[in-house]
Amino acid sequence: QLGLKTETFGQVIYSFEDVDSTQRVAAKLAHEGAPEGTLVVAEEQKAGRGRLDRKWFSPKGTGIWMSLILRPPIPPQQAPQLTLLAAVAISQAIQEVTGLVPDIKWPNDILLGGKKCVGILTELQADPDRVHSVIIGIGINVNQTSEQFPEDIRAIATSLAIEKGKPIKRARLIQDILFRLERLYRQYLTHGFRPIKLLWEGYAVSIGKPVTARTLGGVMRGIARGITDDGLLILEDEQNTIHYIHSADIQL
Ligand code: ATP
Ligand code: BTN
Repeated sequence: QLGLKTETFGQVIYSFEDVDSTQRVAAKLAHEGAPEGTLVVAEEQKAGRGRLDRKWFSPKGTGIWMSLILRPPIPPQQAPQLTLLAAVAISQAIQEVTGLVPDIKWPNDILLGGKKCVGILTELQADPDRVHSVIIGIGINVNQTSEQFPEDIRAIATSLAIEKGKPIKRARLIQDILFRLERLYRQYLTHGFRPIKLLWEGYAVSIGKPVTARTLGGVMRGIARGITDDGLLILEDEQNTIHYIHSADIQL
């Protein structure tokens, strides 16, 4: 019923009215051998998960809550590249479907008007040298009104409908995202990360600007200089020392 233009992505779909987390269901299916391109979607998540053990608010019928299973022939340290790839595909699709031009905040936030409308959570099943599966979890605030966000995130979160001023068709957006994801993923497997990185940098807000990075090791301030070919953030501090950041919360 999605009218997909893809060959594999979303050709097997597990669709739920409500679920704890599409991410958990997809991880289980991947473990049981589900093929690449398998998609889990839900109208509502009762225990949606964000990065860093946070909750992801996923109310009924207003957003896109989905997880895609990939089986890329890459070493685990390259998996962050797929988060950036997904961010590019989703940004392109949002632009195509709504006409709005989103910003990407490293590594995985998509913003409109400075507020978060999309979160991406990438999780791996892997050996040290080989990836078994990558689960790309995508949460998109599509049709929420601002009153429908919990008070504590109202100031930092937005939806496509709020920004556009009218409701957006979710099926159309899912279809466009999967089409672009599949196309970029094929390009990635044949030509590597370079072309994706250039597209990503075209959407990135933080590059060339001062940012604060909160990592597990502490807080670091500097200028975001770009990303490495592995997808790490390059941060230059006041002493002009270059740091490579694997995982952090970035404040602009
Ligand atoms: P904790 O209180 O557990 O230490 P926390 O203060 O980050 O962590 P959580 O409820 O775990 O609170 O996580 C909520 C955070 O996740 C918010 O700060 C917000 O950034 C983000 N968030 C959750 N759902 C959404 C959503 N649908 N859209 C945008 N941002 C969201
Ligand atoms: C973030 O912290 O920004 C990432 C949020 C990812 C949310 C999506 S919604 C679909 C999938 N299932 C989950 O439980 N989380 C991801």
